[in-house]
Amino acid sequence: MTAKLIKGTEIREEILKEIEAEVKRIQEERGVVPGLVTILVGENPASVSYVTAKIKTAKALGFKEIQDNQPETTSEEDLLALVDKYNKDDTIHGILVQLPLPKHIDEKKVLNAIDPDKDVDGFHPVNVGRLMIGGSEVKFPPCTPAGIQEMIVRAGVETSGAEVVVVGRSNIVGKPIANMLLQKGPGANATVTVVHTRTKDLAAHCKRADILIVAAGVPGLVKPEWIKPGACVIDVGVNRVGEKISEKTGKKIAILKGDVDFDAAKEIAGWITPVPGGVGPMTITMLMKNTLNSLKFKLGLM
Ligand code: GUN
Repeated sequence: MTAKLIKGTEIREEILKEIEAEVKRIQEERGVVPGLVTILVGENPASVSYVTAKIKTAKALGFKEIQDNQPETTSEEDLLALVDKYNKDDTIHGILVQLPLPKHIDEKKVLNAIDPDKDVDGFHPVNVGRLMIGGSEVKFPPCTPAGIQEMIVRAGVETSGAEVVVVGRSNIVGKPIANMLLQKGPGANATVTVVHTRTKDLAAHCKRADILIVAAGVPGLVKPEWIKPGACVIDVGVNRVGEKISEKTGKKIAILKGDVDFDAAKEIAGWITPVPGGVGPMTITMLMKNTLNSLKFKLGLM
């Protein structure tokens, strides 16, 4: 193996320690803690496990936390009223409506109803606009792209002037990370290309990348010969390709595979993120950071 592993599991611990210390300091000096509410409609097993992990992390950091689970049959009107209740709650600084929502609810309408100053997911059009402008305008960068940027910076990979190729153009990962890395500023200043399903020669673009970010949702899409020797490869793919029994718990767990052929790519890349244990753990971490920052904005500390 030649590539250095960028482990999200380790970077997460560093960042969570920083957040915990700041929460303590603010609580001592100002008598308030960050408040996060997660709203889950229905019982999609993956969503239940995500929101439970989010709430558990918030609690461990000393946040006020509310896990507000609603039945699958909840109406759009009731959900909008619930969002409004938390918009008005001064002890809540972050509102997260877990996606996907049931089909009878208009996702866009619900996300747009969240107060942009409590939108710690960064999905509200106001926050998407703030991200596009960049600099001090940005309040809540979406959590997965923010995690990717942290990993690149903390691994010591130079972004300024780097050729970045992003595979995938989703609103949650591809478009925001491309936008963040091309901004003027530290951890950015890159030359960015976004490639997608209609791109003519995917391999040719990937081969040019100093930093290759893959968020396509296609297991093993990126072949080792597409990787420039010494490049930094960030694999955002979390593809469930089967099930196995966990050695730790004896329970059935998903077998996860990234979008990059890891075993071959690690012999060519300079840095690489594993799946699992790479980008995945960073998303919840950055959600905590956004929630802390929401309180800091409110207190005039940012
Ligand atoms: N569903 C899967 N990932 C996410 C996320 O980051 N935020 C929300 N709100 N829902 C999700």
